[in-house]
Amino acid sequence: MELFYRVTIHEIVADALMLVEEKELSSKHALEKIFKKVEGKDKEKARGIAHAYVFEIEKWRAKIDFIINSVLRGSKVEDLDPYLANLLRIGVFEMKFKKINPAIATDSIVRVVKEKFDLTRAKFANAILREVEKFNVEKALKRLKEKDRIEWLAVRFSHPRWYVEYVIDLLGYDEAVRLLLSNLKPQRYYVRINSLKADIEKVKKYLEENGVRVAYTPVDDVLKVLEYEKPITKLEGYKKGYFVIQDLASAYVAHVLSPEPGERVLDLAAAPGSKTFHAAALMENKGEIVAVDYSYERLVRMKERMKKLGVKNVKLVYADGQSYIDKEKFDKIILDAPCSSSGTYRQFPEVKWRFNEEKIKRIISVQRNMLINAFRNLKEGGEMTYSTCSVRIDENEENVMFGLERGFEIVDYPFSWGDKGFLEIGDKTFRTWTHRHDCNSFFIAKLRKP
Ligand SMILES: C[S@@+](CC[C@H](N)C(=O)[O-])C[C@H]1O[C@@H](n2cnc3c(N)ncnc32)[C@H](O)[C@@H]1O
Repeated sequence: MELFYRVTIHEIVADALMLVEEKELSSKHALEKIFKKVEGKDKEKARGIAHAYVFEIEKWRAKIDFIINSVLRGSKVEDLDPYLANLLRIGVFEMKFKKINPAIATDSIVRVVKEKFDLTRAKFANAILREVEKFNVEKALKRLKEKDRIEWLAVRFSHPRWYVEYVIDLLGYDEAVRLLLSNLKPQRYYVRINSLKADIEKVKKYLEENGVRVAYTPVDDVLKVLEYEKPITKLEGYKKGYFVIQDLASAYVAHVLSPEPGERVLDLAAAPGSKTFHAAALMENKGEIVAVDYSYERLVRMKERMKKLGVKNVKLVYADGQSYIDKEKFDKIILDAPCSSSGTYRQFPEVKWRFNEEKIKRIISVQRNMLINAFRNLKEGGEMTYSTCSVRIDENEENVMFGLERGFEIVDYPFSWGDKGFLEIGDKTFRTWTHRHDCNSFFIAKLRKP
């Protein structure tokens, strides 16, 4: 493949894995950053290949690390230099998952290690990958299953152990396994029609004429993508902003809030703007939405998208949603809180490895501060949605209960699809699950300030 003369696909993938880990970028954004610096006539093809590598390595990381740790005997992959560790992960992925000839896979990795490090580490990488070649994964997994069934699930289906334990507690063993399996399936795409520029029947016809087979969903302005010939983002209609790609459950939030034209709406964690823009469309661009986010980079991306979608009633504010106070109070608030993202593993496998209990505790405290701040910014009689893409009760129902202690009341909203939540308020909340609803695992509750 003809790329910028010094760059191999293995270096690109290793660089992207570093960005995903250290800067917490998604695979897609990490590669966008890297490919700005790559030249060559095969650039687009290489980007596709690199994306598939990064995505699959993140998806299978627990299993890949299990293989490396087994041959390291004693030390752990996390103890190695992170770049070297990622190169070994690529080697294992090629050998054991892509079934590339082990000698070829080893040789490509060893070459990069020699160039980036030194001969000693190149010899080390060579020895490890030779061991990996001989390592019988199925036999080792069988032994693990006999010893520790939870750890076996975590490795076999490549999920964090805490998540496996958590969903078994919530759903029982059999259903939890179905959830783990569904998180490994290919992403399901949904298209939300941008009613500022198009209507659903026209978009449906347009998509079908362009080789995209779609179906209606329980959400009025959302279509499920069943099949497509070329990526939807390459279609003219997407570039013109007639529709966006948005998860089904995420596109339900604005309907539950149902902002009216002319109202004042606050979005306390707005970027990259899917729910803000949906609310703007439901408000027919009339009234005002104040969209707050704590990430400048994400707000910049939001501004670009806003123009494309023809959204005109949104004011972007770079501020902390825990403390931002506007001079006037709001009719409605969207609080789509930052969370463990544990409902999005199918879409973003890299987030599986980002959260531990300590980090989750910190994010729960942010969620609670935001809830208190939403209460301050809301008019009396004003309504808000609280949503997350987390499966955890402490980020969802328990936070709603916390909100109730702080003065909110819960609205008994007639959710038209999805499942109920947990605890005593469960009947008045909404949940989806990847294995049951074919979208992100998601939570919504509607609250009111009395
Ligand atoms: C779940 S995402 C929001 C997604 C968005 N509502 C949408 O539909 O596109 C959470 C957002 O919260 C932002 N965030 C995290 N901490 C924040 C804080 N203290 N104040 C404001 N925004 C914050 C993150 O930058 C991220 O954009």
